[in-house]
Amino acid sequence: MRRIGILTGGGDCPGLNAVIRAVVKTAINDFEMEVFGIEDGYRGLVEKRVRPLREVDVSGILPKGGTILGTSNRDNPFKWLTYKNGKKVYEDYSDVAIKTIEYNELDCLITVGGDGTQAIAYKFFEKGIPVVGVPKTIDNDLSGTDVTFGFDSALQVATTALDKLHSTAESHHRVMVMEVMGRFAGWIALHAGIAGGADVILIPEIPFNIKKVAEKIFERLKQGKRFSLVVVAEGAREEGGEYVFRKKVEDPDMPVRLGGVGAKVADEIEELTGIETRVTILGHLQRGGSPSPFDRTLATRFGYHAVLACRRREFGKMIGLRGNDIVTVDIKDIIDKPRRVSPDSDLVKMAMATGTSFGI
Ligand code: F6P
Repeated sequence: MRRIGILTGGGDCPGLNAVIRAVVKTAINDFEMEVFGIEDGYRGLVEKRVRPLREVDVSGILPKGGTILGTSNRDNPFKWLTYKNGKKVYEDYSDVAIKTIEYNELDCLITVGGDGTQAIAYKFFEKGIPVVGVPKTIDNDLSGTDVTFGFDSALQVATTALDKLHSTAESHHRVMVMEVMGRFAGWIALHAGIAGGADVILIPEIPFNIKKVAEKIFERLKQGKRFSLVVVAEGAREEGGEYVFRKKVEDPDMPVRLGGVGAKVADEIEELTGIETRVTILGHLQRGGSPSPFDRTLATRFGYHAVLACRRREFGKMIGLRGNDIVTVDIKDIIDKPRRVSPDSDLVKMAMATGTSFGI
């Protein structure tokens, strides 16, 4: 085991640089190995964009958001977008990517990313490539780990935002609706909503009834509370309703981008209650900036253990956190099995018991 490759795939996320730094430092300092960074996720493998990563290249990147390697959430070498006679065609370019791995004599490829990135990693593993996955996403929706790095940092942004919206809600006697990310999982909405004292939390796992949301706001009015805070996950939808999409994109794994449910909910609340209702969409603010101390530590642990897994030749595995222990799990067991909020969980029950409405 001499040469390790590393790529970051999917949406960027606080803590990616901390993983890269930990991999480089561990591999070089502890094992005298060499590390190579692949640029822009799997796109760099197809386009042969690989560069050596020395200690000096990772110096000072621990607190930096984003990824020094660049990333892409649209490029899958197994479904590579090309144009033939002016028409879009998806072709299998995995062998082109494999040639890059072979040319650079990579003994192990560390793939840092969410479900889509790990699914592609597993396909490479099936073709004989030695891969080790590292779980990342602000959405916290990956199985095989209790938590992904990036989630805690996103929560800090969302909770701080909710605290700030509280002031205006209270001063102007308004309903403030805040839309957060999370894809089809409600983790960000649930945790930020609880931490920020939201009166209503709407998540994909519990389809809501807008009349029940209005009832909660009226109930608060009766108690003399003239404002309300509503947190809506981008993947939340009404009972029997559809997901709200913003646009279609060239992403073979998730061909649509969610967004807009917050505005819809705000309009409906205003119509049903007559109370001025405003919406704030947090969007990519949740993905940017410096990782929280928790995420820096977790990402560093993941990077360190990814190198150890490479050395043990535990390929086709992903690093995970179970309790306070670092474990490895089979990538094949975690792909296409998003971890979602259980409506029967203690967290949801606790939120309900302490006065939060889920619109049901
Ligand atoms: O998976 C992370 C995430 O931020 C989701 O919460 C969101 O739905 C999606 O990525 C947005 O992706 P993009 O940056 O391509 O709009």
